[in-house]
Amino acid sequence: MNSSQVHRVIFDTDPGVDDAMALYFALAHPAIEVLGITTSFGNVTVAQAAQNALYLCALAGRRIPVTQGVDRPWLKPAEAPPAYIHGADGLGNLPDRMAVSEQLDLRPSAQFIVDMARANPGEITLVAVGPLGNLSLALLLEPALPSLLKQVILMGGTVLEPGNVSPVAEANIWNDPHAADRVFTAGWPLTMVGLDVTHRLVLPVTLFQKIADHHRHRATDALHHAVSFYADFYGARFAHVAAVRGCFGHDVLAFIYLVAPYLFETQSGQVRVVSDGLAQGQTILKRQPGIDYPHPGWDASRPASSVCMALDAPACSALFETTLMRSWLPA
Ligand code: BDR
Ligand code: CA
Repeated sequence: MNSSQVHRVIFDTDPGVDDAMALYFALAHPAIEVLGITTSFGNVTVAQAAQNALYLCALAGRRIPVTQGVDRPWLKPAEAPPAYIHGADGLGNLPDRMAVSEQLDLRPSAQFIVDMARANPGEITLVAVGPLGNLSLALLLEPALPSLLKQVILMGGTVLEPGNVSPVAEANIWNDPHAADRVFTAGWPLTMVGLDVTHRLVLPVTLFQKIADHHRHRATDALHHAVSFYADFYGARFAHVAAVRGCFGHDVLAFIYLVAPYLFETQSGQVRVVSDGLAQGQTILKRQPGIDYPHPGWDASRPASSVCMALDAPACSALFETTLMRSWLPA
């Protein structure tokens, strides 16, 4: 594969079990080069998220710059992380952790994003799969950021599918709705990979067992352990997920969209985020392009996003499996 076919990526994440899945997909895929990992509060505290990113990279034998980012929402009060979904450590309560010597890059995540974008104008894709405070802060540091990045692909939000933290809100957006609205209205090429598609991809624990058996490596063992914990949460809430003892693949679909966008159906339109009240965190897609609404929040000058509304789930699942079964781990 020549270098022009490789996607150069900054991964903004709050690992998190499905974040770990996404990271390992990215490290295993030959067309993705992870230039850096920026971290946020969300599934765990930001300090834990950063340590988890370092740890996951060390397990996989990869040295990638990791930075620590925002530790709370832009305006709304901070809340305790959901240990019942991802475990108190974010990785399904791993029974033991090997010591790792790698240290954080000491720049704040937003500064790292700005530095990398300025040094590589137009080249970097930002894949964001947590609350969006780092991107929002980076926009304040460098208002020209939308023209310095190639594109943003984010896991978050929902249009027609019910929310997962309220009837209308998805967790990443709900965690920092003010930051999210800033990101959706910034004017960069942006694709939203939300619950409309992520709730269509159920990955069974047996698949992670198969991957772990194939590699016999501590990285895939840790992923298998984490997914087993995560599957218990989803199994208790969705009968069809319990039936296969599986989980949703949420974050990995942002990377699958990056390398295989033809597996998705998208709709283009302005997206705004409800910042307060009962519908806090709702992502609203303007689905009728021909209508010129009088409400000032929807004037035609606001940029449009591309929103994933359907996907080929069997093909996404097959791509996930073939990618993780490649030889991507050191002996
Ligand atoms: C999103 O919220 C987090 O719990 C997951 O890691 C994912 O990014 C799904 O709503
Ligand atoms: Ca996440």
